[in-house]
Amino acid sequence: DWSMANFIDMEIAKIREQVGDKQVLCALSGGVDSSVVAVLIHKAIGDQLTCMFVDHNLNRKGEVEQVMKTFTEDFDMKVIKIDARERFMNKLKGVSDPEQKRKIIGNEFIYVFDEESAKLEDMDFLAQGTLYTDIIESGTATAQTIKSHHNVGGLPEDMKFQLIEPLNTLFKDEVRALGLELGLPEAVVWRQPFPGPGLGIRVLGEVTEEKLEIVREADYILREEIKNAGLERDIWQYFAVLPDIRSVGVMGDGRTYDYAIGIRGVTSIDGMTSDWARIPYDVLEKISVRIVNEVTGVNRVLYDITSKPPATIEWE
Ligand code: XMP
Repeated sequence: DWSMANFIDMEIAKIREQVGDKQVLCALSGGVDSSVVAVLIHKAIGDQLTCMFVDHNLNRKGEVEQVMKTFTEDFDMKVIKIDARERFMNKLKGVSDPEQKRKIIGNEFIYVFDEESAKLEDMDFLAQGTLYTDIIESGTATAQTIKSHHNVGGLPEDMKFQLIEPLNTLFKDEVRALGLELGLPEAVVWRQPFPGPGLGIRVLGEVTEEKLEIVREADYILREEIKNAGLERDIWQYFAVLPDIRSVGVMGDGRTYDYAIGIRGVTSIDGMTSDWARIPYDVLEKISVRIVNEVTGVNRVLYDITSKPPATIEWE
């Protein structure tokens, strides 16, 4: 008889047997899967687990701090934070093609992870949050041909590590249940999907520090207002994008010539198709007013009312 508690006990026993007195490395992204895998393995082997979190400067506002707090303070785990912000920004300089940006971000992640893990001694195992669905999907050519879904966290195949993948019999909803059972906060367990290349594909065109700052602040306001309205669970994914558009506005008695921010909110089952979320007008109004008032450099807010297909969820 299968229950989550039994599953945890059995997995812990398996992990202990497989690892023995050796060391395990885990790349934390802040996403649901890597978070659950890290906490499960930590429960099994404690300080024999080291996590690595790469800050590529493309996370949402507050996310790096949140990940570090959750795992180092609340769960008392060993997490090494790698500050790779400058590296990623240098690599992205002058690049505006979406697929090119994805490739650069995915590859740079691998280089950083390789270099940094080589500095750690005696790591034998690598833990990954591979799900049952990931295994099925990688067997077929799905939407991958439309956009190369380079997941940051995709790792080279010639690695010296042995893999541990304790979630590879589970579906997403089971992973969430497991996360809750392990004491992970709801905010982590129910985190909305976030693409591997992060804000790198939500600043359209060339990624600059200035533009990242604008989209990060706008996105933060959007998330706050969706939360205040109690809509977090009703909308599958919601985020701000910064298209490379400036338009004329008026503020006080002056003319402005500033950026427009795009807001995307979608309902979906699996991301393959989606509809635009019917966010109530008064909520949209609050979001709009706050963004133009609080985010320097923005004077206009647009709401994306396109379904997928024909549009995609992300703008790049
Ligand atoms: P699209 O934009 O293709 O997105 O409709 C479908 C889902 O996939 C996410 N997405 C990505 N995830 N790397 C990822 O890990 C990517 O390059 C990527 N591009 C899109 C998107 O956020 C949505 O949930």
